[in-house]
This record gives sequence, C-alpha cells and structure tokens, in this order.
Amino acid sequence: MTETTPTAGSDSGAAPGTRANTVFVTAETDSAMRALGRRIAGLLRPGDLLVLSGPLGAGKTTLTQGIGEGLGVRGPITSPTFVIARVHPSETGGPALVHADAYRLGGVEELDDLDLDSAMEDSVTAVEWGEGIAEHLTDERLEITIARHPDDTRRVTLTGIGVRWSHLALDAE
Ligand SMILES: Nc1ncnc2c1ncn2[C@@H]1O[C@H](COP(=O)(O)OP(=O)(O)OP(=O)(O)O)[C@@H](O)[C@H]1O
Ligand SMILES: [Mg+2]
Repeated sequence: MTETTPTAGSDSGAAPGTRANTVFVTAETDSAMRALGRRIAGLLRPGDLLVLSGPLGAGKTTLTQGIGEGLGVRGPITSPTFVIARVHPSETGGPALVHADAYRLGGVEELDDLDLDSAMEDSVTAVEWGEGIAEHLTDERLEITIARHPDDTRRVTLTGIGVRWSHLALDAE
C-alpha cells in the first residue's frame, strides 16, 4: 500500500532559509501520521522532551508509534491505560523512548513522583496531554499540537522551545 507522505507547510512566516521554530504539517491518514513520527525521530537525541497535545483521538499515540519506529525501540506503543509511563528500550543502541500519559496524572506533583528526570537524560520522553503539566520538566522542549479536521485529516504544529529547538527543520522522508 502506498503511504501518503505528509505535506510540509511553511513556517510561521519567516523567509526561506531564516531561523524558524514552528513547522506545520498535514497528515492525511494514520499511516501519514506514523511517517511524520519517523521523520521527527530523525531530529531526536537523548534528553529531548516532546509534549503532545490535542483532543481525544487526535493521533498523539499514533504519532508516538512512528517516533518509536524511527528510533528503533521495542514496541508495541499503545495508550498506557493502566500505567502512567512506559519505557521502550532501544533495539538499535540508541536512546530509549519514555512514553507517558499525563492526562491520567493528577498534577505536577504526581509527575515528579514518577522520578522521570534521571531516565530522561538518556532517553527521549514523549508526554501525551502534557499541556500545562510537563513543561516544568525542562525549558527545552518540542511541543506538538494536533488538530482534527472533519475529514479525518490532521494538522500538526511543531513548536520548538529553547535553544535546543531554535532551529527546526524536518527532512523530507
Ligand atoms: N490523519 C490521521 N492521523 C492520525 N490518526 C488518524 C488519522 N485518521 C484517522 N486516525 C485514527 O484516529 C485514531 C487516533 O488515535 P490515537 O490513539 O493515536 O489518538 P490519541 O490522541 O493518542 O488519543 P487519546 O487522547 O485517547 O490518547 C486512530 O484510530 C487512528 O487510526
Ligand atoms: Mg493516546
């Protein structure tokens, strides 16, 4: 089956070649969303934090699955229903993926209780529904917001926060 490649949009108005830390991408299908995740994985290194937000069923877990594929971590990546965070070790000698669901957390204190900080240094951490909860973990983070369109396509906004993400450029797949 042919996989739909997400179409990269322009940044927030900056001229081509200038620094920009916002990228818009349209993902037409769930497989396009996973393909986008694999492209994002190409940008990631140990210590990175991704904060994924968007309504129920937006595609946060689907995108995380693509990121996991791109990182070469052990799956399956699913919605953590009974656990708050799951560690997916690398099968390729790279960083592990820590996948957390902050929606199920009561607040900042509970996230601190997980003691993710030490694991985060060596891993890539992706937090779903992290808006307003996970930001305090680090000043450097990639915020990923997914909007659902009525036709089931998704608009994905990537915003880099901090020096680590001051330049954000997705390579074509
Ligand atoms: N363009 C698309 N991108 C992503 N997912 C899509 C798309 N079109 C349809 N889907 C479907 O939408 C659902 C998205 O579910 P997913 O669990 O990834 O969302 P979520 O944001 O993690 O939800 P939750 O808030 O429950 O954690 C999947 O069933 C997926 O197949
Ligand atoms: Mg989810």
